[in-house]
Amino acid sequence: MCGIVGYLGDKDVVPLLVRGLERLEYRGYDSSGVAVVDGGLSIVKSVGKIKSLKDRLDGRRFPGRLGIAHTRWATHGEPNDVNAHPHTDCKGKIALAHNGVIENHAALKKLLLAEGHRFESETDTEVLAHLIERSLPGRTLGEAVSAALQLVEGTYGIAVVSADHPGTLVGARHGSPLVIGVGDGETFLASDGAPLREHTQRVVYLDEGEMVVIDEAGYRTFTIEGEAVDKQVDELNWDLEQIEKAGFPHFMLKEIHEQPDTVRNAMRGRLLREEGTAKLGGLNLSDDELRDIRRIVITACGTSYYAGLIGEYLLEEYARIPVEVEYASEFRYRNPILDEGTLVIAISQSGETADTLAALREARRRGATVMGIVNVVGSTVAREAGRGVYIHAGPEIGVASTKAFTSQVTVLALLTMHLGRLRVLSQAAGRALATELEALPGKIEKILAGAPAIKEIAVQMQHHDNFLYLGRGPNFPVALEGALKLKEIAYVHAEGYPAAEMKHGPIALIDENMPVVFIATRDAAYEKVMTNMQEVRARRGKILAIATEGDADIHALADYVIPVPATHDAFVPLLSVVPLQLLAYYMAVQRNCDVDQPRNLAKSVTVE
Ligand code: M6R
Repeated sequence: MCGIVGYLGDKDVVPLLVRGLERLEYRGYDSSGVAVVDGGLSIVKSVGKIKSLKDRLDGRRFPGRLGIAHTRWATHGEPNDVNAHPHTDCKGKIALAHNGVIENHAALKKLLLAEGHRFESETDTEVLAHLIERSLPGRTLGEAVSAALQLVEGTYGIAVVSADHPGTLVGARHGSPLVIGVGDGETFLASDGAPLREHTQRVVYLDEGEMVVIDEAGYRTFTIEGEAVDKQVDELNWDLEQIEKAGFPHFMLKEIHEQPDTVRNAMRGRLLREEGTAKLGGLNLSDDELRDIRRIVITACGTSYYAGLIGEYLLEEYARIPVEVEYASEFRYRNPILDEGTLVIAISQSGETADTLAALREARRRGATVMGIVNVVGSTVAREAGRGVYIHAGPEIGVASTKAFTSQVTVLALLTMHLGRLRVLSQAAGRALATELEALPGKIEKILAGAPAIKEIAVQMQHHDNFLYLGRGPNFPVALEGALKLKEIAYVHAEGYPAAEMKHGPIALIDENMPVVFIATRDAAYEKVMTNMQEVRARRGKILAIATEGDADIHALADYVIPVPATHDAFVPLLSVVPLQLLAYYMAVQRNCDVDQPRNLAKSVTVE
């Protein structure tokens, strides 16, 4: 949710910053801008995607060595040139890029207006530029930022430069991530590692309440209150190829096609087939401690929440532990009953989702045992959870989450096997799960090979504006996920329901214009789902069925059938979701939607 890049060094600043913004564009793309310290302060901003900023820069060169840049996901103030970051103080000497929300901005603005400050934008961010201006006399830029931040309530990741301090770049974080890139004679600042990877592998993650002052001498880290802190330098394990499209027209399609590998990576070195269990190093809980867990609460948002719902089926069925799954945004404001016998699992691709992070903190505060299931290494959820399992899916750039979902479910399956074997799961049953898990990447490959047929179905269905997605058991969350994908990238209204719930209301919608997507694989719920399909057929609904290969019966009921290979009941969702990802993708392409950057969305939602 908003991306920041900062640079001090000898390279051509503006192209470097703009390239960095392109790497972060998935975080928001309502507007963007750059500020360069080049004797004075040169600022160029533009509403719209980074492409429009590039057009506006039109190859102009800036002599400076120091600059900041920002790509915005609007919270306060509509997307336009004026509300685009960086924002400045009254004299246009301080420039600031911000990710987060200044919650007490209205009160601060009133105070600053009374003191004679003039505002240009409708943003919450601009107060911070004026607060720094007000704090500067007699202080260094770092000290002024520190003083200003102490007046602020809310969340921020910021980068600040000043024309009067031409060798200094200041960053600070509270609630929104910030990473320092350590190069040879150059230093970077960014919201995550993506813009840094082509320049350096060495990074320092700022923690909550910390700031950095970057200058010719390198970088120094402090608490916001000004106390020096020593930070460890980490390695960025990102491969440059992983953050490029590798010949695919969209990141989303590339990421869908990566799933055979990413599911394999999630299992690598963890699955113990013979023992029928899994080894999860990052859990840091002894077998006895794991046996003492009486209840699990999974908390997450969006697609990660749906992965959690599948985890509920797996953990209850095979490990016999009671599980509840809660939207993180609700959990954090409830009065949940937790104790050390409750394991709270926060699932997050980005590891930066504000609600998930807050839920994790609340769970820890109430004495629960907490862990994360996270993709981005070094992200806030991963570090604050202290224990957990990385899904190792590699960078996910498409705003619609695909490969992270299947990797999250894979890790939940491994966790289920581990907990199950400590309790009720026999070695033979564990071995059956392990053997089938190992076979899944090959089966996903087979589904992907059927992509042209799914594209053809999308061509035929592209003009429908409403869809129902129905499934039962672990395929119910898949229905929710399929509907979410269609909504977010193809802008088609879609609702996911448990198939049997249809007759309690949604059935009223069904006529010959209503496509219904059934997940009707040959598993425990098959016969019941077939009955529900009959009910739709009787009302002339248009049926698309995701069915098990070789199921001849389904053709009598469905207008379109997408086959998926047979698998263990536990893992059906890992296969049945893939055609739904492809269907949403091709529907979006047919409808000329911006697949990787759907309107109004951002990859990491770091505000409430
Ligand atoms: O990074 P997280 O997994 O915490 O993100 C959670 C949701 O914001 C995310 O899954 C969102 O729903 C995606 N756009 C879904 O495709």
